[in-house]
Amino acid sequence: MKLFLDTGDLAEVREAAAWGVIDGVTTNPTLIAKSGRGFKETVLAICEAVPGGAISAEVVATEYDAMLKEALEIASWHPQIVVKVPLIEPGVRLVNTLTERGIRTNVTLVFTVTQALLAAKAGATYISNFVGRVDDVSGDGMEAVRETVAMVEEYGFESEVLVASVRHPKHVVDALAAGAHVSTMPLSVLRQLFKHPLTDSGLKRFLDDWNAAGLTIG
Ligand code: E4P
Repeated sequence: MKLFLDTGDLAEVREAAAWGVIDGVTTNPTLIAKSGRGFKETVLAICEAVPGGAISAEVVATEYDAMLKEALEIASWHPQIVVKVPLIEPGVRLVNTLTERGIRTNVTLVFTVTQALLAAKAGATYISNFVGRVDDVSGDGMEAVRETVAMVEEYGFESEVLVASVRHPKHVVDALAAGAHVSTMPLSVLRQLFKHPLTDSGLKRFLDDWNAAGLTIG
């Protein structure tokens, strides 16, 4: 499963990129607004920080012609860019157009397998299925992920199922169990993936024993 970082914060991208485990970055208008920097400048810096990674940058228009104009502008910035498009009627039409032109897309704000079906049929590269926002309102966000993975596999769609709106490591565990292709998460969740109390206590004991014996390397 690919790991994407969900952020518009360049320092966070650089920190995670140094670990060598992230395959891309997802941004959205909220995250870019929080970054305090310009959209193009931020996205290009993220592309540079994650060489070869898939970097999602979202259109903000909601009418087809304006969306197309924005999408072509964003896609022209860098070959690593994936144009993020909301799952609305002109958005699905836009994904068809961009697919025909060989431009990769990430269809966002997907909550159901029927929405995912439309995205897959339009040729979406990634289908961003939001789980945390569903769990926040007492639903089971991962249910649509499981259904969408099954659909993609059963019918041979090329789209990758991207688990988004990840709130904690259990979402990552469930995404793995569901066979999702990608999970995107904030840096706080990515950091939590390292953590286990037995790792900390085990390391402490190794180092205490080593130091008590007065050993050195080399
Ligand atoms: C996905 O690409 C979105 O940017 C993101 O995962 C949304 O997460 P949120 O529900 O925590 O805002």
